[in-house]
Amino acid sequence: MTIVFNEETFRDDFTFRNSPVAIKRFPFPFHEDRYMYSVNIEPHVKTAPGSVYEHAFDVDEHYVAEMRDRELVLAEDPLRCQSLPHMELAGWDLLELIMTSKAEDYPDLFELYRDGDSWRWINRPLGIDDSFTFGDASTLPYGPMEYITRQTQGDFALLDQRDGNLWMDAGIVTTQADWSLDFDIGMNFFEWHGPVPLAHDMRVFERALKFLLNLQHGKPARRLNWTMTINPRLDTSPENYHKWGTDRATVTPENVGNLVHLRVELQTFWRLPRSNAIVFPIRCYLIKMDELVTVPKWAKRLHRVLKTLPPELIDYKGLSRYHGMTVEWLSRYDDGSPTSPGF
Ligand code: HEM
Repeated sequence: MTIVFNEETFRDDFTFRNSPVAIKRFPFPFHEDRYMYSVNIEPHVKTAPGSVYEHAFDVDEHYVAEMRDRELVLAEDPLRCQSLPHMELAGWDLLELIMTSKAEDYPDLFELYRDGDSWRWINRPLGIDDSFTFGDASTLPYGPMEYITRQTQGDFALLDQRDGNLWMDAGIVTTQADWSLDFDIGMNFFEWHGPVPLAHDMRVFERALKFLLNLQHGKPARRLNWTMTINPRLDTSPENYHKWGTDRATVTPENVGNLVHLRVELQTFWRLPRSNAIVFPIRCYLIKMDELVTVPKWAKRLHRVLKTLPPELIDYKGLSRYHGMTVEWLSRYDDGSPTSPGF
């Protein structure tokens, strides 16, 4: 196989690490020295080989370990995966999208054989070889959405479109930045975005929804979102807040480099052909400060972004306890010289 998969954990002993290759391709999200919410949506087109945008669904060195972590979360809490009855067709759409994309993009890892509705799916990294009937959930061990997303990095929300709005009527959410599928299921676009500060007044959500309602099949879009996390923990859910909330109090000036992680979400948007639903994959990339500062221009820029971050965002993203310490720690990598826009 072309990718060497890491043996690593996202809990307990936290052995997660990025290789130099993974650092190099990390989707650093800041184009300027300041950050504010915007409708930062662009076409999800393939770019340079090796980048996280090279393929429709990026598979990287963390794949196998992330799928193990998902399995652990679901075993403890099955409500992390829910699908209202009318969303099963969207689940099949999603299964088709992921299987065809992965088989085309990573032929050495995934294979798909189709003869009418008789399908055979081979997933080499996870040791899966299943034959099933497309459209007949009884021929799979789980429903179609759960089956394929147990084999795909990132969280997934499946949105039904009706009454000029989007409704979160299905999803699998085990690697989220402090929001809950169980709480949000059945909500619409404005309702689940209710807690986000400032963006409503800026009409970000109004414009974003308008864009999404007109999303065309075959023309996916993407955006980056970000926050910060203590330890490389994927499951920072409200359900498990008691396990990770106190981590924020463990940050000291000495351990910022090892404990504080930038958490970037590559969010994509896809119209699905049969159901007319939208699938919203949220792929999480983690990088600790010690790794991030190996790219000097990122260190300098992150220092400036954090230093000037509006207080409402510091609070909403849950950074208050360690924000000042991280800015101070990063300041040693910022000589004050101008940065160039972009990258
Ligand atoms: C936050 C879902 C699309 C902008 C969130 C949250 C959820 C969510 C669950 C967390 C809210 C909370 O605190 O409980 C979704 C889904 C989308 C979608 C399912 C797909 C239909 C978008 C789009 C934009 C956007 C298109 C804007 C261009 C934001 C922003 C935040 C947010 C700015 C706050 C993030 C932060 O500061 O970390 N979204 N969203 N979302 N969303 Fe969305």
